Amino acid sequence: MLEHPRSAALYAGAENSLLGGVPMNWMKKWSGAFPVFVKSAKGAHFTCVDGHEYVDLCLGDTGAMTGHSPDVVVEAVAKRLREGITLMLPTEDALYVGEDLKKRFGLPYWQFTLTATDANRFSIRIAREVTQRPKILVFHYCYHGTVDESFAGLHDGVVGPRRGNIGPPVDPSETTRVVEFNDLNALEDALMHHDVACILAEPAMTNVGIILPDGGYWKAARELARRYGSLLIADETHTICAGPGGCTAEWGLQPDMVVFGKAIGSGIPAAAYGCTEEVAQRISARIHLEDCDVGGIGGTLAGNALSMTAMRATLERVLTSKNFEKMIALAVRFNEGVSSTIKQQELPWNVQRLGCRAEYTFCAMPPRNGRASAAAADFELERFLHLYALNRGVLMTPFHNMALMCPDTTEQDIGRHTTIFGEALDELKQAWA
Ligand SMILES: Cc1ncc(COP(=O)(O)O)c(C=O)c1O
Repeated sequence: MLEHPRSAALYAGAENSLLGGVPMNWMKKWSGAFPVFVKSAKGAHFTCVDGHEYVDLCLGDTGAMTGHSPDVVVEAVAKRLREGITLMLPTEDALYVGEDLKKRFGLPYWQFTLTATDANRFSIRIAREVTQRPKILVFHYCYHGTVDESFAGLHDGVVGPRRGNIGPPVDPSETTRVVEFNDLNALEDALMHHDVACILAEPAMTNVGIILPDGGYWKAARELARRYGSLLIADETHTICAGPGGCTAEWGLQPDMVVFGKAIGSGIPAAAYGCTEEVAQRISARIHLEDCDVGGIGGTLAGNALSMTAMRATLERVLTSKNFEKMIALAVRFNEGVSSTIKQQELPWNVQRLGCRAEYTFCAMPPRNGRASAAAADFELERFLHLYALNRGVLMTPFHNMALMCPDTTEQDIGRHTTIFGEALDELKQAWA
């Protein structure tokens, strides 16, 4: 409060007109009595309304993995803003974006939405339509945006609504099969029912810590999906951190569909989903021109001129191989700092990394599935560490211990985190002693 009087006053004022005092309900969940209000952000830093400067390791939970407001995107978008924002007609940028995504992910055909949630929802619809099957399969503790079917969890092995699921339209057991990640037997048991239209998966789980696939897992899972006639949708919205073509390119996955949102437009609302030639043909066979605007796939602003420009500039100039090399090296450095601090303090914690994304978990060994990772979470401890860092000028991603690097992050920024993390653990150890 003493250090953030303006944020405190704005929050108090916001309570008069915003539900919970925030524009989006989860902004309430930041640790501290109120969220810090932002004045401006650029690259890897932002300044709050009280004039404090922060290293941003949250980067809009991947929406700003490009760094805040990259100049090249701002310039292209500013020009587009003056020349027409949305028309329901294509612009030339769409061709560049389609060709670029084709090269990155190896899938020939692409469509656009404003959010990764929508890209997932439309991919699921397509999978249901072309397979004529009712269910989807997701992994326990997955997150794919506010997709109704994915808000399912396992309770003593039985599928039900995930904790906190607000007003589920139907019991998710009607729409969804859920299995643990890295369990091929469970996956095969679920697919054997021949009612799964698609597996919707992050190639590595990133929303309940970072959970990497076991060696050979995706090769076997890919084969199982083919054997039982289910499509494989790789949601690369977060795992794009692995490289310019996400895990799909890095690990040679062969998904039937790919979803890529958030960072694709440097934060300008935009997302994409792509499919194979085979899926494209199956879609064409079932969707007729007269009905294509009322089938539940689309959006008035989807594919608008502004988001196409933002995607083009981002793909062409920001999410480049050169920038990824730099960002990944920084994440390696972040992990070395966290890992050596954990060792020094002899704590049974670990730190994982996927490309330019890093995350520490409060257990000795990296978890192999959602259940194990969720069991290691400690809400109060996490809030303490986040608030400790925030009060000293470093913003971590809320609701987990994730740090993301952008092309503008510096070694000094990482060093600042390592120092603060060390001081926090010193204080914790003293309090625990
Ligand atoms: C893997 C993954 N997919 C999709 C989404 C949804 O993105 P959006 O909220 O931008 O629709 C998220 C959001 O965190 C995500 O983590």
